[in-house]
Amino acid sequence: MASHLELLITAERIAAKTEELGVRIRSDYGDRQIILVGILKGSFIFLADLARAMGGDVEIDFAQTSSYASGKSSSGIVQIRKDLDINIEGKHVVIVEDIVDTGTTLNHLRELWSTRRPKTLKVCSLLLKPAASKVKIPIEYVGFEIPNEFVVGYGLDHGERYRNLPYIAILREG
Ligand code: IMP
Repeated sequence: MASHLELLITAERIAAKTEELGVRIRSDYGDRQIILVGILKGSFIFLADLARAMGGDVEIDFAQTSSYASGKSSSGIVQIRKDLDINIEGKHVVIVEDIVDTGTTLNHLRELWSTRRPKTLKVCSLLLKPAASKVKIPIEYVGFEIPNEFVVGYGLDHGERYRNLPYIAILREG
């Protein structure tokens, strides 16, 4: 089926927001070391920009999950395909997500990584869908709240396409 893109957030707005989030996170942590954990693959571009906006002492790691759908709704089963390389015990950790929808992925990661006794564990997501506000998931840093549409660009994909768009767009079918 043919599909088209509808601009939602320009590259300029993303850059300004990322800069703002980076500065805010750095000022919250002062000169402490921050472990940024990007959730692959969607967060790779956001993490690269956020890490540079933040400055200071930063270590970077990545993790990858996959969730299995049963029928139309997510099964709620999250599998870790790549776990952390860094030992996070006693560290200040910020999970970096591209988008939070139901919060299933994030809940699972928070629970799992909390058991490793980080000093603090927070979340920074560039985008937040409306479903996320219905369930109680703490997300300390949010870029934009968006409508309940499927979006692509700036790291987000549809079948691995569109990740390289510098802006965020709604993918409309037909
Ligand atoms: P959640 O576990 O339901 O919060 O889903 C989060 C994951 O679903 C994100 O990390 C994305 O990989 C994917 N996702 C959710 N909504 C979108 C979207 O609009 N575009 C692209 N990926 C999405």
